[in-house]
Amino acid sequence: MKRSFYIVEVLLLLINTLLGLSDDATWAVNGSPQSLQSCYCKRGNYSGSGEIRPHSVTITEFGAVGDGVTLNTKAFQNAIFYLNSFADKGGAKLFVPAGRWLTGSFDLISHLTVWLDKDAVILGSQRSDDWPLTEPLPSYGRGRELPGRRHRSLIYGRNLTDIIITGDNGTVDGQGSIWWDWFENKTLNYTRPHLVELMNSTGIVISNLTFINSPFWTIHPVYCSQVTIQNVTILAPRESPNTDGIDPDSSDNVCIEDCYISTGDDLVAIKSGWDEYGILYGRPSTNIFIHRLIGESGRGSGIAIGSEMSGGVSQVHAENIQIFNSGTGIGLKTSPGRGGYVRDIYVSNLNLVDVETAIRFNSQFGEHPKESYDPKALPLIERITIKEVVGVNIKYAGILEGLQGDTFANICLSNIHLNITTTSKTSSWNCSNIQGYSNLVSPKICEPLQERIYPEHHLDCYRLSNHLWSPIRRKGLLSFSIDKLMTENMPSSVHFPV
Ligand SMILES: *[C@@H]1O[C@H](CO)[C@@H](O)[C@H](O)[C@H]1NC(C)=O
Ligand SMILES: *[C@@H]1O[C@H](CO)[C@@H](O)[C@H](O)[C@H]1NC(C)=O
Ligand SMILES: *[C@@H]1O[C@H](CO)[C@@H](O)[C@H](O)[C@H]1NC(C)=O
Ligand SMILES: *[C@@H]1O[C@H](CO)[C@@H](O)[C@H](O)[C@H]1NC(C)=O
Ligand SMILES: *[C@@H]1O[C@H](CO)[C@@H](O)[C@H](O)[C@H]1NC(C)=O
Ligand SMILES: *[C@@H]1O[C@H](CO)[C@@H](O)[C@H](O)[C@H]1NC(C)=O
Ligand SMILES: *[C@@H]1O[C@H](CO)[C@@H](O)[C@H](O)[C@H]1NC(C)=O
Ligand SMILES: *[C@@H]1O[C@H](CO)[C@@H](O)[C@H](O)[C@H]1NC(C)=O
Ligand SMILES: *[C@@H]1O[C@H](CO)[C@@H](O)[C@H](O)[C@H]1NC(C)=O
Ligand SMILES: *[C@@H]1O[C@H](CO)[C@@H](O)[C@H](O)[C@H]1NC(C)=O
Repeated sequence: MKRSFYIVEVLLLLINTLLGLSDDATWAVNGSPQSLQSCYCKRGNYSGSGEIRPHSVTITEFGAVGDGVTLNTKAFQNAIFYLNSFADKGGAKLFVPAGRWLTGSFDLISHLTVWLDKDAVILGSQRSDDWPLTEPLPSYGRGRELPGRRHRSLIYGRNLTDIIITGDNGTVDGQGSIWWDWFENKTLNYTRPHLVELMNSTGIVISNLTFINSPFWTIHPVYCSQVTIQNVTILAPRESPNTDGIDPDSSDNVCIEDCYISTGDDLVAIKSGWDEYGILYGRPSTNIFIHRLIGESGRGSGIAIGSEMSGGVSQVHAENIQIFNSGTGIGLKTSPGRGGYVRDIYVSNLNLVDVETAIRFNSQFGEHPKESYDPKALPLIERITIKEVVGVNIKYAGILEGLQGDTFANICLSNIHLNITTTSKTSSWNCSNIQGYSNLVSPKICEPLQERIYPEHHLDCYRLSNHLWSPIRRKGLLSFSIDKLMTENMPSSVHFPV
């Protein structure tokens, strides 16, 4: 069933490509229009979220008190320990009713739904001891902020499958301000915790909830597969340090849909490990789909890749993104020492309002786990397409800096219209060590990207060329490509022959 659905999708993709429909074309499936990307998102396993788990308990049955003062860590742990006996019987649901449930870090199990009622608030303890220490991630080699171990997230899971965190817009509140103070006044002993971290897990749905005031990054899936994050609100003050929204890290098949995020740093940051540790661990982030994201990011980016990208990042598709009141619209952050790669990135339908820099490639981000990093480990950056962008009240159109001896290649920009607020020359495009192509960009694009996108660039510009192919070319491709597609297992990584 899954397999045949998959083949139908591959065929649709192929037909779309061969007919030369525009790459984000919609078509009718059973009479209703659907875009390719949302098809892909829906392919993730949502079944659990609608499904009623056969067993359910309420947190109060385990002695929890929702007064905002009583510490309920034991109640959460005991409830989840009890529910473990239902894991092989269809799983179980932990219901959190209205109330303010103060707790320290607790562990999830497989086949579990945590369901937060409308006025339920899970409150993170403000004592650092209630967030015990855990080992650094192997792909980071140490805590991100400080050497050694790191505090464990409030909601934590490792080596799990089939986990759902959902509800009727209940809230998970990290009460992070105390951690921001410890960070600002340099009294932290270990790296700050995330609000939710799932590690080495498969089949995750996080939906219909609000997450606020995380001590550090808010939702951090790391070494995970099949992750759906849908219809969540993530909030933290503009000034709060490093309160990223969603950071898929060395994870694949991730779908982020219909989210509103307003934090002090990047709304979504796609990562894959840090310098030599990330290179050695070698687990990329790939097949990441982001749709209908709205938000503001303080000084950060709407969507960022990096700066930790040493395990590689590829196949990122972002569409229908609205960013306002932010430092950067789309950001790529890397550095000598990172190694790894970023390739096959596609951003389309981007709306920017009051954003300082619309597109920013920062190749000197710095920050290394070790002073002795290898400066010759250069990142490979290629095939990045950004198209259909409208910006109002933008200060700098694009600051695109590659590295000397490491040109960022095949950067393709199409249909970009930015209203720049200042008139100085420095406020439009500034490119160095960049190669690529462009169509219809205003203000006038920088010299290295001035070449138009012609059909012969169809392999260079990621997903930007289908509509430019000649009919003769399309015909010649048909038989070859179907054979190739049927024997390969990744529809989105297919490379068409010239
Ligand atoms: C979806 O989850 C259900 C259980 O929740 C499982 O039985 C099924 O195999 C999963 N399907 C996929 C495609 O992962
Ligand atoms: C979110 O809530 C809506 C309305 O209750 C429901 O239809 C939908 O299935 C939920 N989504 C997920 C992914 O849980
Ligand atoms: C997860 O798996 C790793 C490797 O097998 C193991 O070392 C670790 O203890 C497991 N952790 C949990 C919480 O199961
Ligand atoms: C989003 O979540 C809210 C509750 O948080 C729910 O009422 C609404 O139906 C959800 N929307 C979708 C599209 O799932
Ligand atoms: C959920 O709650 C948040 C915070 O109270 C609110 O901003 C958001 O609009 C609510 N979402 C829905 C879908 O009702
Ligand atoms: C740092 O911030 C914490 C939390 O607000 C506060 O308790 C502590 O006194 C501060 N320490 C210094 C040295 O300012
Ligand atoms: C750091 O360690 C010191 C000494 O053990 C302790 O007093 C302090 O509370 C710790 N700070 C944090 C934020 O945990
Ligand atoms: C992840 O889980 C697998 C299988 O349980 C295990 O072999 C591996 O060591 C785990 N990795 C980590 C980092 O926990
Ligand atoms: C962009 O700026 C020009 C003049 O600076 C103005 O005429 C135009 O209306 C602006 N466009 C938008 C979409 O704000
Ligand atoms: C472009 O950026 C470089 C390096 O940041 C800077 O030195 C230069 O002045 C900028 N050029 C323009 C025209 O803004």
